[in-house]
Amino acid sequence: MEKIIILDFGSQTTQLIGRRVRELDMFCEIVPYNKFPHDDPDVIGVILSGSPFSVYDERAFKVDLSNIRGRLPILGICYGAQFMAHTGGGKVEPAGSREYGRANLAAFDHDSPLLQGLDDHTQVWMSHGDTITQLPDHCHKIASTDKVEFAAYQFDNERVWGVQFHPEVFHTVQGTQLLKNFVVDICGGHQTWSPASFVETTVAELKEQIGNDRVILGLSGGVDSSVCAMLLHRAIGPNLTCIFVDHGLLRKNEFQNVMRDYEGLGLNVIGVDASEKFFRELEGVTEPERKRKIIGAGFIDVFNAEAQKITDAKWLAQGTIYPDRIESLSITGMVIKSHHNVGGLPEKMHLKLCEPLKWLFKDEVRRVGRQLGMPEHLITRHPFPGPGLAVRILGDITREKVRVLQEADDIFIQGLRDWKVKLSGEDARKVLAAGVPANMTNGEIEVSLYDQTWQAGVILLPIKSVGVMGDERTYERAVALRAVTSTDAMTADWAHLPYEFMAKVSNDIINKVKGVNRVCYDISSKPPATIEWE
Ligand code: XMP
Repeated sequence: MEKIIILDFGSQTTQLIGRRVRELDMFCEIVPYNKFPHDDPDVIGVILSGSPFSVYDERAFKVDLSNIRGRLPILGICYGAQFMAHTGGGKVEPAGSREYGRANLAAFDHDSPLLQGLDDHTQVWMSHGDTITQLPDHCHKIASTDKVEFAAYQFDNERVWGVQFHPEVFHTVQGTQLLKNFVVDICGGHQTWSPASFVETTVAELKEQIGNDRVILGLSGGVDSSVCAMLLHRAIGPNLTCIFVDHGLLRKNEFQNVMRDYEGLGLNVIGVDASEKFFRELEGVTEPERKRKIIGAGFIDVFNAEAQKITDAKWLAQGTIYPDRIESLSITGMVIKSHHNVGGLPEKMHLKLCEPLKWLFKDEVRRVGRQLGMPEHLITRHPFPGPGLAVRILGDITREKVRVLQEADDIFIQGLRDWKVKLSGEDARKVLAAGVPANMTNGEIEVSLYDQTWQAGVILLPIKSVGVMGDERTYERAVALRAVTSTDAMTADWAHLPYEFMAKVSNDIINKVKGVNRVCYDISSKPPATIEWE
């Protein structure tokens, strides 16, 4: 399958480049800067990412492009552009002031294949401390802004370009057009990577790979494991057995609702109510990491015990997705690879691992889910931590506290789903770019607050405070509402929810949830705070 290779020089936006290329229905892979797959005949073009380093930094990542240049088209972005200018004999120097933020292309070469279809003065996003002050010989400028003379350039008679702005970020308004020019027109990509083609080829591959074997899969209610299950179901039908463990710390009625959804989709699911075990083991435990450990270990015990009853199973399927596997570069230049824990089951039961989503970004998983006909509420479900409400109850955990929190959480989440807002202009574009399903009419879209937020929930605080209800003085619990916007949970901002909405939710919680008389809203961003409180 034809592909674009993105060489990662450690920029925070490297994954975004990958997502943008995939949105063009082009397959791409992100690899560390020094791991170009020279033997792969399917590569049709190369993109060099940005980097946290200056080209002069001793720690700067350097790569020899001589085996690639002349053979494949190259697009250098930011550091990628500066690196090629610097190593080609040009000059890169610290910019007078850091060139950061919005800029407009003041002039550009309308005949350049890279810039076809761009509007005059189109907005781009800059973010660099160095700037190119002189191009190498045999190189020409193709765009500049008011402040940045060599905003984009090309090597003469070579299919090699550099742009100092970031076409992958949302604020570069026509960034997708530029990437399309590169990927499709310059590299000759056929744009055949689509959810439909993915489903078709993956189902065929799974049939081939698995044959008549039995497969076990752990469902969590989340998007990844659900889509994984649906793909396998399409490939092998009843030979897939799913296990869904209820640790008693899910949202209100979630176990029953999710079981119903799964059964409605035709999946063969074993639901295990193990809440008794978890409440017993968590009794009196207050330390967050201990809670996590107990729940993690307990989960594996319950899952494994159930899985071992399926004695003829040959495979364990997992909803691992691409960002879980990308080898990312740390600031020290070390390659970090995240490992996922499958609890030793594959070795113990001699199971083979099957990870059909391992090439997909999160937004692609959702698109595949839609392609498979899954209901929208399963696809757009917010992330939810594995240890569930245990990390949202500060202090020890009891069934009663879980009940109080479930009630408050349900009011908040249902409220977010019901409250619709109209957006236009840049706000609407941003929401659509994040993959929220909404139709534009008369320049406006209508979305729920739920779809506008990345994640939301309620936290039960370990304090009581005085209140008054009717003629009675109360002394009851306080809860905190948490809602954030984010693209990857690595950073997050608190969601700026409308005051009228918060007033309604606060009233509803205090009036309907026995035991709560005070509601606060968490206005901390990540960093320095985290999304969860524990
Ligand atoms: P933090 O709180 O670190 O969370 O900002 C980032 C994202 O990860 C989720 N999260 C977890 N997910 N097990 C999980 O499966 C955990 O122990 C865990 N802790 C945090 C959190 O909900 C957010 O989406």
